[in-house]
Amino acid sequence: MLKEFKEFAMRGNVVDMAEGIIIGGGHRMSCSFARRPGRRAAFFALARLVPATTALALLAFAALVPGPVWAQEQRLSSDWQSPETCGYCHDALYEQFTGSMHSQAAVDPLYLYEVALADEQTDGLVGPFCLKCHSPIGDWLGETAPPTGKSDGSALSDIAKEGVTCDFCHTVSGPSDEWPGNSSFESDPGLTKRGPYADSVSPAHDTAFSEFHTSSDFCGSCHDVNHPLNGLALEATYTEWKESGWADLGVRCQDCHMTPGAGPSPPGTGPVAAFGPERDRVFSMDFTGANAVFGNREAAEERLKGAAALELIVEGVPEAGVKAGDPVKALVKVKNVAAGHYLPTGLTDTRRMWLEVKAVGKSGDPVELGKVEYHTIFADESGNHENVPVWFAASVYYDRRVPPMGALDEVIEFAWPEGVSGEAKVVAELKYMSFTQELADKAKLDVEVPVILMAQTEQSVETAGSSLMAAIAFAVAFAVVVAIMVVFLRRRPGGFARRGGDQKAVA
Ligand code: HEC
Ligand code: HEC
Ligand code: HEC
Ligand code: HEC
Ligand code: HEC
Repeated sequence: MLKEFKEFAMRGNVVDMAEGIIIGGGHRMSCSFARRPGRRAAFFALARLVPATTALALLAFAALVPGPVWAQEQRLSSDWQSPETCGYCHDALYEQFTGSMHSQAAVDPLYLYEVALADEQTDGLVGPFCLKCHSPIGDWLGETAPPTGKSDGSALSDIAKEGVTCDFCHTVSGPSDEWPGNSSFESDPGLTKRGPYADSVSPAHDTAFSEFHTSSDFCGSCHDVNHPLNGLALEATYTEWKESGWADLGVRCQDCHMTPGAGPSPPGTGPVAAFGPERDRVFSMDFTGANAVFGNREAAEERLKGAAALELIVEGVPEAGVKAGDPVKALVKVKNVAAGHYLPTGLTDTRRMWLEVKAVGKSGDPVELGKVEYHTIFADESGNHENVPVWFAASVYYDRRVPPMGALDEVIEFAWPEGVSGEAKVVAELKYMSFTQELADKAKLDVEVPVILMAQTEQSVETAGSSLMAAIAFAVAFAVVVAIMVVFLRRRPGGFARRGGDQKAVA
């Protein structure tokens, strides 16, 4: 909700909050300790109840009982930890994370297909670059040194296959000199987990406040991808956001992607770890985006549906109604209402979003009147723009997408189609696919790529045929009524046809 988000912003959590369109709703993060062993929960509950003055006494006592032995076991080692280990205490966050694309980044089937192709076409030179963002731990461990590294994922260790993990994100220590983009973070793996709190205490690891994690700049280290040789922007989500009105309003990536709903929402409340205190700043680790194929389909669909809106005006329809061949114009405004960047963003040469305008009559198939595609097409060094993979991209051949807080006005001119009459309407629909079915089949992904209807609007259109038909129908009905009346009155005793005779008889 607007009010709640603003209150969150006012508390200094989001800087420079100004007036603006804020969409979304508040929520409470659930955190269940049901799976935690009772003894541990009881120990920590007790520890929190004990006044500070008796803390020393408790420590002395604790040294004598088995409790602290397992507490020491809880201390993590400084090696890279699997998300499952973090989930031992951060169970709600772990559950959210397992549905995210970050958890799949190194094993995503489309990604594996593309890396294998990239390596094949570049003698293994490109794959290691891909790993820097898709498996930052694999990259750190040096598992992908060219040209012998198998960057298709098969040679990766288990920890590297877990993608962009909890431990990876929370041991990032700041931006590198190359920031933003192309994995420009500094890592400091080990026991210090960095996050948004300045006062957090954990039995398992050290903690540190990190301003970087509370800023979109953190996401910007991977969510801008530039060609490593020619610098061409292949993905520019961070830069798109930075130059948008959302950045001016202080609405960060976290406010939309780590909360429910399409637009920004305030964070939830509650404890973030078993035995942890109640917090009023709890973000979700689900990072819902638009991937309805490998990500959480329902959440992605909801986000896509909340992202855009359409307005439609049909011009050029004559007073007497339109007939086949008449020139007509559909003016469609395609609005980006809740995406903090261009729509679509990210891997825009692979994503598909398009506007479909069609005429629909009372019966028969709808007739397509026009289509506009919103994505990017790259050209290679020789200017070819047919199926150019990102690793050979040298320039942008086509790029039409809807700007953040903006709109595109599309004019679709057409001749009114044959056979669409009666109660007709013009329908405009905005649709999205994460990638084409053709690509899915080529990559042997064995998935059906859903077409998601993001927005729809329509306007009814008077057709000349429809008024003529109505006139004929009215005339026929009128004639039938008159005919029935005539027959009825002729038969009725005393009806006007017999009246003369009757009168004569009476006389
Ligand atoms: C892509 C990076 C990323 C991944 C993966 C990730 N986090 Fe976070 N996490 C963040 C950021 C950024 C914040 C800070 C949000 C804010 O407060 O602005 C955060 C916040 C937190 C917090 C503070 C409480 C909260 O919920 O806001 C905890 C605890 C935490 N993460 C633990 C985890 C655990 C455990 C996992 C894995 C199950 C995980 N994180 C996965 C980036 C990540
Ligand atoms: C034995 C339980 C336990 C395990 C295991 C554990 N944590 Fe924590 N963690 C906690 C507690 C308790 C807190 C304090 C929560 C608070 O202050 O609200 C915490 C706090 C955090 C914070 C917030 C730090 C800050 O200052 O903002 C982050 C980030 C975090 N943990 C990440 C992780 C990651 C990543 C892992 C896995 C490598 C992990 N934790 C494993 C118990 C645990
Ligand atoms: C280490 C690099 C890295 C960092 C840091 C990072 N991401 Fe990501 N993110 C990725 C990769 C790689 C993917 C794609 C995974 C895939 O689709 O296989 C991804 C996917 C996503 C998606 C899902 C996109 C979809 O199509 O559904 C969202 C949303 C997202 N990231 C948001 C964020 C936010 C918000 C932050 C900052 C808090 C962040 N990311 C930080 C690398 C990163
Ligand atoms: C005002 C809310 C908002 C903000 C701020 C925002 N996003 Fe998004 N994002 C969305 C919505 C809504 C979608 C789904 C529609 C779409 O695909 O653009 C989305 C989609 C995405 C996708 C998936 C795109 C695709 O089609 O594959 C990624 C990746 C992403 N966002 C990353 C980010 C990052 C990184 C930031 C910060 C630099 C950010 N977003 C800021 C709302 C937001
Ligand atoms: C600088 C970080 C970075 C590098 C390097 C990188 N990616 Fe990505 N990749 C991302 C992000 C962020 C996303 C999510 C964007 C989105 O959802 O649109 C992504 C998404 C993808 C996806 C979409 C997966 C899906 O399920 O839709 C594929 C495929 C992919 N990348 C392939 C590659 C390949 C191949 C390379 C090496 C040539 C590579 N990436 C290098 C950051 C990176």
